[in-house]
Amino acid sequence: MNIGILVHSKTGNTLSVVKLLEERLRKSGHSVIIERIVPDNEDQPDKSKVRLVSSPSVSKFDSIILAGPVHGFSPTPAIVRWIEGSDDLSGRKIPLIITQQLPFPFLGGNRTVRKITDLLQKKGASVPVSSIVNWGNGKRQMLIDDAVTKISEYLK
Ligand SMILES: Cc1cc2nc3c(=O)[nH]c(=O)nc-3n(C[C@H](O)[C@H](O)[C@H](O)COP(=O)(O)O)c2cc1C
Repeated sequence: MNIGILVHSKTGNTLSVVKLLEERLRKSGHSVIIERIVPDNEDQPDKSKVRLVSSPSVSKFDSIILAGPVHGFSPTPAIVRWIEGSDDLSGRKIPLIITQQLPFPFLGGNRTVRKITDLLQKKGASVPVSSIVNWGNGKRQMLIDDAVTKISEYLK
């Protein structure tokens, strides 16, 4: 399968997770590309003021995975702008990976997954599987491994 991993990553944490996922999916025989979602201003919290300088298209991929961090207990403005401005996503099943600093998913990660899921549903897509990696959790490496395994198993 031709898979696109579309990621917003300001400081590199989410990117490091999806690089491991890329490697795993390649070992399973998939063709995988990571494409960055990049806002014009990483420090702008108001999504209405954010423009994307890189906004990957989904059309060339059989499957896409979306990944990004939690900012202020919410999806980042860049992820929201990407979803709202994306091509037709109807019928797409989009696995999701979220990273956050706080140690437990109930501290904003779950809310972020719910918000992204709602936004994707408005575009006709669904989220069949999601993983949250809590950077400040002592079991971070295990959470990363679980996320990579969960998403790659789903795409087998
Ligand atoms: C502006 C901003 C807001 C953030 N808000 C939260 C938050 O509400 N909850 C949380 O757990 N982490 C928060 N973080 C931390 C990031 O979610 C965390 O470090 C994440 O892994 C960063 O991913 P990245 O390196 O891919 O950008 C915030 C970081 C930034 C820069």
